[in-house]
Amino acid sequence: MTAKRDFARLSSLTLTELKGVLAEAHALKADKSRGRTALLGKAVAIVMEKASTRTRISFEVGVAELGGIPVVVTTQGSQLGRGEPVKDTARVLAGYCQAIVYRTSTTARFDEMCLAKVPVVNALTDDAHPVQLLADLMTVEEVFRSRGELLDWSKLRCAFVGDGSSNMARSWIEAARLCGFTLALATPEGFDPPAHEVAEAGKHLVISRDPVAAVTGSHIVNTDVWTSMGQEEETAKRLAAFAGYTVNEALMHHASPSAVVLHCLPAHRGEEIDDDVMESSRSRIFDQAENRLHSQKALLAFLFTHASS
Ligand code: CP
Ligand code: NVA
Repeated sequence: MTAKRDFARLSSLTLTELKGVLAEAHALKADKSRGRTALLGKAVAIVMEKASTRTRISFEVGVAELGGIPVVVTTQGSQLGRGEPVKDTARVLAGYCQAIVYRTSTTARFDEMCLAKVPVVNALTDDAHPVQLLADLMTVEEVFRSRGELLDWSKLRCAFVGDGSSNMARSWIEAARLCGFTLALATPEGFDPPAHEVAEAGKHLVISRDPVAAVTGSHIVNTDVWTSMGQEEETAKRLAAFAGYTVNEALMHHASPSAVVLHCLPAHRGEEIDDDVMESSRSRIFDQAENRLHSQKALLAFLFTHASS
């Protein structure tokens, strides 16, 4: 019997598997009729304990486009909201559904859901947002392809300007380590990623307190909100700490001339990014949002056809 595969973090895939998933994502985007029966008759629970627009809708549509049955479960609409343990929910859902997509707070809760005997996909925790990174990496590849340029990951420099301890920064760090590019992270003191993740990233991560230093020479400039879901009480403190970290035209002036801007959304315009950059020709933010659909379809198709040996 083959073991199920979970997607807890980006490195739940090998580099070869990641490249395969991204290649399939591009193929699915190019041919809307591709993969129509990949999930035929399979139900996928999409369990959301935090708000979501892109992740929920792209998974819901993606499962349906692959012939599967998406089942959206929210905290308030289920017994999770009344305290039913995740480890019980996991085993119950596995009796009805052939995969679970799960957005929650802690990694510990996510790991409990992995007790289910079906594949479990991380749809965001406080520590990671790996399905977002699939779309982000796909978008980077698309930018180079659209220009007819060869993408050599080892020569790529990406900047992340913002909260270095956030799920998004940490998943970008993991991507840099896995794909072999340089992530130049600009974050204020007190917002560094966990020390073991910095150590694991080695030469692929360069941390500074200066957004200009991080953005200088970067091909991709990425940012995310300063206050993530669940941190609302810290908003005032964070607004003060991140002053000067806005991605605006003045900052982009230091990037590579053809640099593009990414943001996983939702954005707080006027805080981590301004209107001009969001609406500029450098922005690939809405392609990135669309690519959630294609890359997650590729991931689901992969998880249903591959298992660990
Ligand atoms: N980027 C992202 O995960 O968006 P949602 O919170 O809307 O799902
Ligand atoms: N860092 C953000 C990402 C949202 C998609 C959050 O966790 O709220």
